[in-house]
Formats: sequence, C-alpha cells, structure tokens
Amino acid sequence: MRLLVTGGAGFIGSAFIRLLLGTNRATAILNLDKLTYAGNLENLEALASDPRYRFVRGDICDAALVDRVLDEFPAEAIVHFAAESHVDRSILSPQPVFDTNLRGTFTLLEAARARRIGRFVQVSTDEVYGSVPEPLAADEGFPLRPSSPYSAAKAGGDLLALSYFTTYRLPVVVTRASNNYGPYQFPEKLIPLMISNALENRPLPVYGDGLQVRDWLHVEDHCRAVAAILERGLDGEIYNIGGSRSLDNLEVVRKILRATGRSEELIRFVTDRPGHDRRYALSSEKTVRETGWAPEVGFEEGLSRTVDWYRDHAGWVERVKSGEYQSYYERNYGGRDLELNRLGRR
Ligand code: NAD
Ligand code: TYD
Repeated sequence: MRLLVTGGAGFIGSAFIRLLLGTNRATAILNLDKLTYAGNLENLEALASDPRYRFVRGDICDAALVDRVLDEFPAEAIVHFAAESHVDRSILSPQPVFDTNLRGTFTLLEAARARRIGRFVQVSTDEVYGSVPEPLAADEGFPLRPSSPYSAAKAGGDLLALSYFTTYRLPVVVTRASNNYGPYQFPEKLIPLMISNALENRPLPVYGDGLQVRDWLHVEDHCRAVAAILERGLDGEIYNIGGSRSLDNLEVVRKILRATGRSEELIRFVTDRPGHDRRYALSSEKTVRETGWAPEVGFEEGLSRTVDWYRDHAGWVERVKSGEYQSYYERNYGGRDLELNRLGRR
C-alpha cells in the first residue's frame, strides 16, 4: 500500500512509519510534516536512505501544497497524525491548535475527496470523551465532552472526518487512543518530562493532587492497532485503542523515580492545569473483537524500556530541549512554582 502519512516526524507518526516499513506492510510512504517544535527528522534517521521512504516539509493547512504532493505521489491511503498534540500548549496558545487540528484536517479531507482516496485514517484521542466518571469506561458511542482546546479541536476533526463518510462516502475511519508513552516522545508530556527531569535531578512538577487517572498505552501497541484498523477497519467506524492499564499520575511518577534511582524529594505539587480532566478510561472491546488487535507491552516492561531509552539518548534529549523548550518550560511552569511559593506550600 502507498501511504501518505502526515506528522510522521513526531512521536507516534515516526513509530508508525518505522513499523510499516520494518514489517513490509507499505510499499511506499510519503511523510508530510511541517517540522514544528515537535517534529524531528532524527526520529527517522534509520530510514533516510530507504528508497520506499520520502519526506516533504510542509503544512497540512496549505491546500496547494497538499494537492501537489498527492498529484506527484498518488497515495492509496492517508494516515493523519499531524496535530498540535499537547494540552498545556493548547491552553497557552490555542491558535495553532485550531489551524492544524481543524483547518488542516479539513484541507486533507478535501484533497482526499477530490481524489477518491481509498482510506482516510483520522488518528484521534480518548480525550474527546472528556473526564469519564468512575466506574465507567468510554466506548465509541460515549458522549463527546472535550475540555481543552486540544481535545475540542480533535473532536471537531473527528466529526468533520465522519461527515465526509456520511455525506461523500469517503472511506474514513477514526481511531481514538489513550495516553501514549515510549521512545522519541517530546519531553513535554508526563512520562518523558518526568524521566528527563529525574535523570537531571530536577524537580518533578505534579499538577494538583496528582490523583488524576490515565490509561497508558505503549506507542508500539498504538501503532500496531492503527495498522490493523487501516487494513481491516470498516468505513465510517470509530475504534478506541486503550492500554488497559489505569494509573494515577503519582503512581506513574513514583515508578519513574524508582526506575531512575531518584528520591521522592524531587516531587513538587504545583498549581493544577485549568480544565484538568480527572479520569480517562477507555473500552477497546470493539477494536479487539473486530481487528484481532490487543496490547502486548505491559506497563512495567514498557516503562523500564522507555527509561533506558532516555538514559541512552541523552544527546537526543539535549537537542530537543535546547532553544524553544526552555521558554515553553518557563511559560508553563514558572508561574506555577511562584504561586505555590507565595502560598508557602513548598
Ligand atoms: P507530536 O506532537 O509528537 O507530533 C506531531 C507532528 O505533527 C510533528 O512532527 C509536527 O511537526 C507535525 N505537525 C504539526 N502541525 C503540522 C502541520 N500544520 N502540518 C504538518 N505537520 C504538522 O504528536 P504525537 O504525540 O505523535 O501525536 C500524533 C497524533 O496522535 C496526534 O494527532 C494526536 O492527537 C494523536 N494522539 C496522541 C496521543 C499521545 O499520547 N501522544 C494519544 C492519542 C492520540
Ligand atoms: P499529559 O502527558 O500532558 O497528557 P494528557 O493531559 O493529554 O492526558 O499529562 C498526563 C497527566 O499528567 C495529566 O493528568 C496531567 C499530568 N501532568 C502533570 O501532573 N505534570 C506535568 O508536568 C505534565 C506535563 C502532566
């Protein structure tokens, strides 16, 4: 299959390209990526000279560019990962989130419709369901109650994509995965941020009481599921992809401290994230039943491999943390620390 992958220089997109070319499930892949702060060609260095792989730097909001790319590379399917993917950044600066997650998705859907593309995979997130009360687990019919600009824009992209199936019969599938972790994840999300801070003996900023619950999914399990859904999913359907491993944030942080051999003294409770979803919980029964996929990587094993990866890739971490990262860190965490200092809680 000839695939156009968007956002393939990011964390999950690059893992997906490595999986599909590594297992010969794609004959050719073109990676269209804008290379924002989160895009990094180092993530695909091993494929740079593979004749099946091509890279084009460009913005999915640029309709003329998307048309040109698809004219030169007649893809049979589009797997759409490109997004502004971080909740905290979406709170600080919602404009790029709207542009990429909504307008960019629209641009790709229009290009796919014009060419009658054989499959459009909208890679989405369980965050579109919002906070899920105990003891429920969201299935694909669960109401959409996104809380952040990030998740609201993803939900909008999902609905738009599904409308292209209903209205134009574009063969769309939507995947909704839970929180991913693994190698090459930008150190702004919980697990890589805590690992890299711990390795550098820096404080670990836990939002609020740290008892928010997430369902953790190894990135390789996520990519295997997206591949299965690309190949076997039914047009117009939504597929949840969960890791079947619920943990609160403090449990995750404590495991990271143990794996890195650091003390709990590094934990800092800081001002909570506005609109913070308390609990995500996902039912992937439909995906398991209909595609035969199931998660394979246990959390303890996956976390230990991830800690080893960050320890062994200090150069990668240093490069992605240079420049813009420092000012983001200050913008996101600076005020939080100050506020707690004033309250005298540290
Ligand atoms: P990421 O931030 O690591 O990578 C995003 C990639 O998209 C980057 O390479 C970036 O350069 C590219 N990009 C951003 N804007 C673009 C634009 N306008 N045009 C072209 N390229 C652009 O993200 P990720 O964690 O790999 O997430 C990938 C997808 O998976 C996203 O759609 C996200 O919503 C979804 N998802 C992520 C998680 C998670 O835990 N990370 C969980 C579920 C779903
Ligand atoms: P994150 O990785 O940003 O994913 P999401 O918000 O999309 O679930 O955060 C995971 C959880 O960790 C979430 O409850 C927020 C919390 N968190 C912290 O407590 N401190 C941090 O520095 C970060 C980045 C996240």
